[in-house]
Amino acid sequence: MFNKDDIKGVIFDLDGVICSTDELHYLAWKELADSIGVYFDRQINSRLRGVSRMASLDIILERSEKKYSQEEKEALAAEKNEAYRKLLERMSPSDVSDEVRSTLTALRGKGLRLSIGSSSKNTPLILERTDARRYFDAVSDGNNITRSKPDPEVFLKAAEFIGLAPSVCLVVEDAEAGIDAGISGGFFTAAIGSAVHCGKANVNLNRFSDLLKYV
Ligand code: BG6
Ligand code: MG
Repeated sequence: MFNKDDIKGVIFDLDGVICSTDELHYLAWKELADSIGVYFDRQINSRLRGVSRMASLDIILERSEKKYSQEEKEALAAEKNEAYRKLLERMSPSDVSDEVRSTLTALRGKGLRLSIGSSSKNTPLILERTDARRYFDAVSDGNNITRSKPDPEVFLKAAEFIGLAPSVCLVVEDAEAGIDAGISGGFFTAAIGSAVHCGKANVNLNRFSDLLKYV
């Protein structure tokens, strides 16, 4: 466990923590899976949380009888991403709640350094569409890493970008893979949403503003 004074920075996962893009990922993957005749549902979709685009596709193709080459898989992932980006274009500032905005503002007011730590290569587009970039001192995302969660690379980069050691940062995550990444990188961890059930985080948040009780 940690005390308030131990924490100098907070690193946030994006999808499922700052905003909810899970349903949009689901819709785009569902369209792709249907087009190649592979069964896909919301339960399988929940396994994709925090997982990179290519690793997500591999999970979906577990149910495919056809074996796809690397080139074919890249084409399928690009097709999904095109559909997903079309859905992201519909996002607006109202997709980041007032609760999230006021909590981020309060954390900044306490002098904490804030960063995004997301596996998504679409992070810049999402932050732009939701007008949320301005709350963060740095952004570490799928564009600056080679290994996806549960590898801690994205969070280690985030800590580096805000000039802090992992041991003084709290990682906030909704995916078990993200909590595992935080723990293996030497960070304190806070679970929200579905990550609460894994029981591995230092603290569980019932709601985003609960963060203010801990840091
Ligand atoms: C994570 C999501 O944030 O980003 C995953 O939880 C997703 O579901 C991953 O696969 C990669 O996203 P993108 O936008 O680069 O395809
Ligand atoms: Mg997430």
